[in-house]
Amino acid sequence: MYAIYERNSRFGKPGAVNFVDHENGGATVELTSQRGSATVELFGGLVTSWRPKGSEEVLWLSNTGSFVDGRARSPRGGIPVCWPWFADHPTDPSLPAHGFARKSAWEPVHTDATTGDVRLTLRTDVAVVGHVPWPHRAEVSLDVVLGATLDVRLTTRNVGNAPFDLTQALHTYFRVGDVTRIEIKGLDAVTYLDKLDAFASKQQVGAITIDREVDRIYLGTTGAIDLVDPVLQRTIRVTRSGSTSAVVWNPWIAKAARMGDVVDASGADAYLRMVCIEAANAGPDVVSIPPGGTHTLATELEVK
Ligand code: BG6
Repeated sequence: MYAIYERNSRFGKPGAVNFVDHENGGATVELTSQRGSATVELFGGLVTSWRPKGSEEVLWLSNTGSFVDGRARSPRGGIPVCWPWFADHPTDPSLPAHGFARKSAWEPVHTDATTGDVRLTLRTDVAVVGHVPWPHRAEVSLDVVLGATLDVRLTTRNVGNAPFDLTQALHTYFRVGDVTRIEIKGLDAVTYLDKLDAFASKQQVGAITIDREVDRIYLGTTGAIDLVDPVLQRTIRVTRSGSTSAVVWNPWIAKAARMGDVVDASGADAYLRMVCIEAANAGPDVVSIPPGGTHTLATELEVK
């Protein structure tokens, strides 16, 4: 961990990359370019905001929790990093859902603003996450590239002697005008596992619309997904690489109430203002990484 002010002197770029240190050791990284701005929390490697120039905020973030007051109260939303397993641990349900990367400290290892795009690379040390059993050795880095699009890339390198399996996701929470009026296009005829129906295999017909809780893993799909939002009058295109599965999730009323942190300026109606479209390696889309091998899961967001 770097001392206060050290991150800016080593990795800050005037007008492009600025670290705002928190008393608990974390920091918010502010990225600014001619094409917009973004913020990333070092705790969790969590992208919390992306505002392309001339556009409203793209990401949804709850207004409960704080990075400044303490790490335990991270707000829900942004782009959580689910790693090294997606959802429940495959064999031990007592382990944290979506792995431990989102609850780990990340540190900058590289920044660049020479090309007009602004790039931030973070790394987390999985070896020091001692409280969670994960018997492998890996280097994990997260690249966030702010350009005309927002490109987020999660790279895992196996630095151990044995292969390991990985499930993961870049769990993007999108801010929408009214979730009941959006259409999610690009998954027509794609097979999905319905988590709300004991993971029954079903087939998507047409665009996805949301009028109830939705929790699905779409399989065998690599194409672009469009989030069409008539209220905010924009379409967000989500493209992925290193991923043949995509998760679509909205908690709706009862689950949002149970979760307690699906709250924003619209109060308990926050579930209407968000939808998750996640670039994933989930369900049967398991990635196997041999010793010395790497895998990059990436999602690129574009406002059209
Ligand atoms: C989604 C899952 O990816 O994440 C949902 O499909 C889950 O089942 C949601 O509820 C949120 O998970 P968490 O652990 O952040 O509450």
